[in-house]
Amino acid sequence: MSVNMKGKSLVSLNDLSLEEIWQIFELSGSLKEKLKANEPHPLLQGKTLGMIFTKPSTRTRVSFEVGIYQLGGYALFLGPKDLQLSREESIADTSRVLSRYLDGILIRTFSHKDVVDFATFGSIPVINGLTDLMHPCQILADLFTIFEKKRKLRGLKLAYVGDGNNVAHSLLHGCSKVGMHISVATPKGYEPAKEIVQEAVENAKQFGTEVLITNDYYSAVKDADIVYTDTWTSMGQEEEEKERADAMKVYQVNNVLVSHAKDDYFFMHCLPAHRGQEVLDEVADSPNSVIFDEAENRLHVQKAIMALIM
Ligand code: CP
Ligand code: NVA
Repeated sequence: MSVNMKGKSLVSLNDLSLEEIWQIFELSGSLKEKLKANEPHPLLQGKTLGMIFTKPSTRTRVSFEVGIYQLGGYALFLGPKDLQLSREESIADTSRVLSRYLDGILIRTFSHKDVVDFATFGSIPVINGLTDLMHPCQILADLFTIFEKKRKLRGLKLAYVGDGNNVAHSLLHGCSKVGMHISVATPKGYEPAKEIVQEAVENAKQFGTEVLITNDYYSAVKDADIVYTDTWTSMGQEEEEKERADAMKVYQVNNVLVSHAKDDYFFMHCLPAHRGQEVLDEVADSPNSVIFDEAENRLHVQKAIMALIM
């Protein structure tokens, strides 16, 4: 049975039910097939998406913009200096005004609260394209990629190694919702936020899976089906780059670390990768790496999200 998601915002992955997640994956698979078969699929004919970006982006911007065109809609890119937001117009007023013109808003920005406010004050669906706290679209594409390749999610173990950042947070939400075990290994002081770990622990009760937060990278990666990492310095943290690299260098994903995972493990990274830092080429370019499949699946999964909520 399908769940009606029209009008729903995607601010946090934890806002989605398990049924909604599977509905997104089913539509993602069918839209991917249609695109590969060159079959038109204009599910958003005449609809318009505003794309507000105050941070740089390759994958998110291009995949959303291409995605809405493929669905028959139109995208407006709104950079950091384009809106009166840059001259102190409030988010509440901006969101109310944009709701009169657009059918949906995608936002990539620093403060998570800004995205929550856009969704609260506007009357159209808001999609979180990354905040300092979360990156839900990325993790939906990642879980879809794992499902495509392993034909299941329940019972698999994902090990995330490095910084307890926005990507780690959405992985905690996503893996715990779909019945996967998740272990997160970070240096001391870089652990994921306590509230998000608590939400994951709560989710994990449904399938009785494990949520492990540790400083020990070997125990995190032991027998993992997926080894995942991300940059040590996220956008906005550039001034801390050196101290972060010093703290995280032993958390690098290299051949020694992944030898503790299962033989048929997958390596994943949201990209952009900083090769030589959080990951070495020997892993990123190995046959176990699926980094470009996950990047491609951003397109298919986000098209499904837009088609379902807009
Ligand atoms: N993974 C990801 O969101 O990439 P971009 O920063 O290039 O959008
Ligand atoms: N954690 C990274 C993800 C980039 C897609 C950042 O926020 O910069």
